Amino acid sequence: MNAEEPRAFLRCIEPGCGANYPLSERIYVCSHCGGLLDVEYDFNLSGTPDELKTIFRDRLRLNNPLERSGVWRFRELLPFVDDLSRVVTLKEGNTPVYEAPRSADYAGLDALRFKHQGLNPTGSFKDNGMTTGVTQAAVLGASAVACASTGNTSASMAAYAARAGMRAFVFIPAGEVAYGKLSQSLEYGAAVIEIEGNFDDAMRLVRELADETDLYLLNSINPFRLEGQKTIIVEMMEQCEWRVPDWIVLPGGNLGNTSAFGKALREMFDLGFIDRMPRVAVIQAEGAAPFYDLFRSGRPALNPVAEPETLATAIRIGNPVSWRKALRSLEWTDGVVERVTEQEIADAKAIIGRDGIGCEPASAATLAGIKRLTASAVIGKSDNVIAVLTGNLLKDPDYTVRYHRAELASERQGIKSSFANRPQPVTAIKDEIKRLLVL
Ligand code: F0G
Repeated sequence: MNAEEPRAFLRCIEPGCGANYPLSERIYVCSHCGGLLDVEYDFNLSGTPDELKTIFRDRLRLNNPLERSGVWRFRELLPFVDDLSRVVTLKEGNTPVYEAPRSADYAGLDALRFKHQGLNPTGSFKDNGMTTGVTQAAVLGASAVACASTGNTSASMAAYAARAGMRAFVFIPAGEVAYGKLSQSLEYGAAVIEIEGNFDDAMRLVRELADETDLYLLNSINPFRLEGQKTIIVEMMEQCEWRVPDWIVLPGGNLGNTSAFGKALREMFDLGFIDRMPRVAVIQAEGAAPFYDLFRSGRPALNPVAEPETLATAIRIGNPVSWRKALRSLEWTDGVVERVTEQEIADAKAIIGRDGIGCEPASAATLAGIKRLTASAVIGKSDNVIAVLTGNLLKDPDYTVRYHRAELASERQGIKSSFANRPQPVTAIKDEIKRLLVL
């Protein structure tokens, strides 16, 4: 990274605009047309792709936090920080890829792998993006950061802000955030502002407040967040020995991750790190599926869902801010969007558990979506498929226990606990207990 020649800048993604801004500009959308912004680079790589692949891997052997981080060890692909001493890291990333034979069987596939982003420091993929977002906040000299959240963004931002000594303000829909996530924001010392309204209301308000005050906005509309989230895909390709899978499957809510994955793939392809593009499949919950509707309708613009509804509260979002970038990701990857019911999410989650992996409800939308896409022959039985589990099982224990007690119900429909593993109450008498021990 060369301090003398700025090689990175902000660029409006709107084809008719394309305005450029320096990185030091504290903006979240284009000042001319309101379009979303990319961090763009004149990549001037210090080695060939093969040389860099070796460097990325070798860094894992070192103990320096910057080298150990599963985001910053790929820093040549996100060269927006001149002074690396400013980096705020919790040694995020480096998450495992697991074979999941039961899940594969359930979905009708020969094989299936999960990359588990829930094994990050705060238990979700947001950490990959928060290390870069909070680093940029530090570079800009911000003293207070803010986000709207369904829970994971806020937990992650609260942790990284605490590390950086910044004040954190999280805006969450009152009563709609899983306790695992809420407890994290409280523990990391963020000011938790519970809004009477849904995520989309919180998002609108925090955007207005960031424009009117000194709060630095750290939702995924902030393009520096997405730079970190790109490394989920870079690391996944490394774990595939740089052999590109046929499909990458992920849940879609505010669509930041979909946007980041497309940008990562596009850049890696253009730079020669991969020799073809995988297809991306985005899965939404039926009651919060505006991106699915957009994909299906072929309309030019997204029609927000006014009252989004799903028990997978992480993706209970009706007006995703990044839909234009996400659409671009679909174009670049010949991607598809699928939607799944509450029942399908709940059962898929239990199956992922039976593989000894586990995840939070939104993450399980992936397996439910893969099952549908395989049934409709969009995904072939022998295709090479990797899905991203976005959040940890422990984020939403309430949902899991209710499912296994057959008490899960949504406003949309009753849910049958097809794979329930009920707790078994018993008196404290050994012979009684022995009867339960089916060995
Ligand atoms: N999975 C989980 C566990 C999430 O927390 C989120 C988003 C998504 C999937 C969807 O990702 O927004 O990039 O399409 N959670 C945000 C939050 C909205 O506030 O924590 P996306």
